[in-house]
Amino acid sequence: MLLALENVGHRYGRDGDWLFRGLTIDFHPGEVYALTGPSGSGKSTLLSLLARRSRPREGAVRFTDIEKVSWVFQNPFGSPHRTALDHVALPILARGEKPASAEDEADELMSRFGLQSVAQRRFGDLSGGEAQRLMLARGLASRPSVLLIDEPTAQLDRRTAERVDSAIRAVADPRTIVIVATHDERTRAACTKQLDLGSPEGPDYP
Ligand SMILES: Nc1ncnc2c1ncn2[C@@H]1O[C@H](COP(=O)(O)OP(=O)(O)O)[C@@H](O)[C@H]1O
Ligand SMILES: [Mg+2]
Repeated sequence: MLLALENVGHRYGRDGDWLFRGLTIDFHPGEVYALTGPSGSGKSTLLSLLARRSRPREGAVRFTDIEKVSWVFQNPFGSPHRTALDHVALPILARGEKPASAEDEADELMSRFGLQSVAQRRFGDLSGGEAQRLMLARGLASRPSVLLIDEPTAQLDRRTAERVDSAIRAVADPRTIVIVATHDERTRAACTKQLDLGSPEGPDYP
């Protein structure tokens, strides 16, 4: 499984400014990539290229054995009356797992994200940080090849954001390429690799 950028550049419109150019990187499962840069540097744009929602203006995005791509957005959304656990169990059932093993896997994901004590709480009664961690657990529950996470801590206060940052570490998964767009230095530090779109001398990558 490989997701790769080859000399990718993008801009909107015929003569708009380039948001980024010359991006070349291979993304591997098991790693958590921080995609950083100030607001407007093109982080969300690059995520949509990686999700095949649009094509880059130059260069190529290569997809090898990438089946499912999942997103986690900045604002958690769920069904207010359903339990937290249901939000994680449903995508597992949707993959075709039997109810008993779906429940075991959902329990395991809830503890991995520190959510066991709120498993039976209604989504509508979760705090902002709990809801965001639940979105990470739900994102992994569908077992995507690629999990794209856009600004997971943007709406959170500092302390809550710190708990989400530790949860970012828990998202690393041998089956999944995880990419987190963030302008938060601490979220960046929680990731295993960094790709910066915002440095003044142009994009910077490992
Ligand atoms: N569909 C679009 N059409 C034209 N311009 C866009 C579109 N989407 C984003 N932009 C512009 O491209 C720039 C980068 O946006 P974005 O990728 O959302 O950056 P970031 O996520 O880093 O804040 C911004 O100036 C934004 O206004
Ligand atoms: Mg954005």
